[in-house]
Amino acid sequence: MRTQLPPSGLARDARFHRITTAERFADERVNGAGEERRMDPASNDVADRARRQMHGIFVGEIQAMEGAGRTAFDYSIAETPFAMKLDMARQCWDEARHVEISLLLGDHMGTDVGEYSEAVTLFEAACHPDPVFRLAGVNRALEGLAIDVFTTMRDFATEMNDPVLHFCEDWMLADEVTHVKMGSTWLRELTKDDKERQTKALEFQRTVDGLFNFRGMRGENRDAAIRLARKFREMAGFESDEIDDIAAMAAEQRAQYATAY
Ligand SMILES: [Fe+2]
Ligand SMILES: [Fe+2]
Repeated sequence: MRTQLPPSGLARDARFHRITTAERFADERVNGAGEERRMDPASNDVADRARRQMHGIFVGEIQAMEGAGRTAFDYSIAETPFAMKLDMARQCWDEARHVEISLLLGDHMGTDVGEYSEAVTLFEAACHPDPVFRLAGVNRALEGLAIDVFTTMRDFATEMNDPVLHFCEDWMLADEVTHVKMGSTWLRELTKDDKERQTKALEFQRTVDGLFNFRGMRGENRDAAIRLARKFREMAGFESDEIDDIAAMAAEQRAQYATAY
């Protein structure tokens, strides 16, 4: 079996509608042009927003499964220790369960596979040739985003009095904290004698984090579209100043975007 599978090689049936990462980030409906709290129970189109978010989570879970599977497989033992391969295999298994849970949550919320588009941004970050960059970009930046999104979704479920959604999001959130923690641990372990490689990987993480602040939609207050889940990030091996950094970057992007419109 080949290593380093390109995004064009991913298996999808005719239900899925692929868009590019550039198209995804150019779509202001999704990214919230001045949109306040995305998962606001008082909003007129809250059901559509929730379904759109759920579909986004569903396709993200598929790619997280594919990415973790590739990282378990793509490298020799010299490049990634066996214990790290086991962690990636465990993550792949977790993500497979998340795909099933998210698919059933789609039924629960009234959406079907392919009703919304799929950009394979997450998998693209999982195609980096250096495993350390995958840990930084996927396990820390994107799985970190999953922590924020699941916390937001779980709290939304509480407000909507939906125990099914609440239970599922809370369950998946616990796994995501573990996945980010694996990223933090292995990133440090693999770069302990190579600070330059570590710095470059953390810079890559910062780029991905900046992109997924969605022009500053991520923030710490209750009204943020995606709420930065500080406590869970700390549990997952983020230093306080790393979280401060993401929050500060988002605030800066928010201010820039507000003056642009
Ligand atoms: Fe997941
Ligand atoms: Fe995950």
